[in-house]
Order: sequence, then structure tokens, then C-alpha cells
Amino acid sequence: MSRDSYSKSEAYIVEHFAREDEVLKEVAGRLSNDGKYGINVSPVEGKLLQWLVGLVAPKLVVEIGTLYGYSTLWIARALAPSAKIISLEFDPKHAEIAREHVHMANLDGRVEIRQGDAKEIVKTMNVKPDMVFIDADKPGYKAYLEWAMSAVRVGGVIIGDNTFLFGHLIGEDRGERTSDAAIASMRAFNETLAKSPNFRSTMIPTYEGMTVAQRLS
Ligand SMILES: C[S@@+](CC[C@H](N)C(=O)[O-])C[C@H]1O[C@@H](n2cnc3c(N)ncnc32)[C@H](O)[C@@H]1O
Repeated sequence: MSRDSYSKSEAYIVEHFAREDEVLKEVAGRLSNDGKYGINVSPVEGKLLQWLVGLVAPKLVVEIGTLYGYSTLWIARALAPSAKIISLEFDPKHAEIAREHVHMANLDGRVEIRQGDAKEIVKTMNVKPDMVFIDADKPGYKAYLEWAMSAVRVGGVIIGDNTFLFGHLIGEDRGERTSDAAIASMRAFNETLAKSPNFRSTMIPTYEGMTVAQRLS
């Protein structure tokens, strides 16, 4: 599927199903002004995450990779009032901006942004999340998955974004550079889930690739 045809389908979905509210528009604008738009999930992916949240009805979501909180807001908007998302972000400036956006969206009660290296933070988290969304540094995906596979509750869901690794895993040159470490990590991420008898996994063929896995045992 070429990016052109995807863009048309994406535009259709956005128009009919995935319109941004005022706060999301503002976050998108700020990402754009700072030259970071596109690092965040697209509105189509945001709505997909929201829809998965609706199905799983999680009490606790852990997100790895917050940026400005764009995906965090999509997810948080679908959470029950008593549910929570903890989002982990390495960059202090990103964490600070994301907190502003959470406040702007009136979601302080449902969202906690924790600043630091997610690989270290997860080791200190004694939680059984119902959903884990992984969208941070690509060489870290293997480690994040190891944690998520043991932490997520049975019946819970792990979601990884960018799992085609900008085309590198499917032999498509999209002009984006990556590292051998990122390629090895992302291969391990998909192959581990594909082979694990404890998870029912597949990929949703978004342009970036979204791997989804439900823990069976
Ligand atoms: C792809 S962006 C996240 C986009 C966000 N999920 C969204 O869709 O709006 C990746 C983020 O992960 C952060 N990050 C990179 N390495 C990290 C690490 N070791 N621990 C936590 N966050 C990290 C980056 O600073 C960046 O903000």
C-alpha cells in the first residue's frame, strides 16, 4: 500500500471517525511548531487506541513514551473515571509540556506522567496493568516487551507502535535512517510475540505498523 493510498484512507477515517477535539488540535499545533509533528501517533491511530481501551476497559494503562501527551490524551479520554494511565517519558521538557496538556484537557485525575528512563522506572513499578502501550526509543522495545509480557494481567493487552520500523522490517525504503540495534530490537519484539503461546498476537497494518497482543495465560 503506497503512502498516497494510505493518506486518502486516513483522511476519510479522520473526517468520519477520528476528529481531534480542541485540546488535541492544540497539542498537534504545538508539536508542529516545534518540528515534532508525526512523531506522535496519527489521529487514526489515536482513535484506534481509544477503541481498544473501550474494549479492554482497563483500570490501569502504562504508556512508554509520552512526548507531548497526544496519544496519552486519546487513551485517557476513553478511560473510566476511576481508571488511570501512567505515562513514562525520559525528556524532562516533554514531560513538563505533556503535564500542561493533561491539565488543559482536565484529565489530571486520570493521568500521571513519570519522568525518567522507562527501562529503569518499570523495574520499580509493582503493578499489573490491563494495557501497555509502547511508543518510545526503538532499541528499547525488546526490554519494554520483556517487562510488559510479565507485568500485564492475563486478558490484558500489549500494543507496540512503529513496529514496521519505518519500513525497515518489510523491505520498504521510506528514506528514514535507523540503527542495527533498533532493527534487532524490533525484530525480537514482533517475533517474540508471534511465537509466544501465552499471547494471541497480530499486527494492525497501519502505515507505521501496530502490533497488538492479548495475554492468554
Ligand atoms: C514516539 S515519541 C512518543 C509519542 C507519543 N506516544 C504520542 O503518540 O504522542 C517517543 C518518546 O519516547 C521518549 N523516550 C525515548 N527514550 C525513552 C526512555 N528510555 N524512557 C522513556 N521515554 C523515552 C522520547 O523522549 C519521546 O518523547
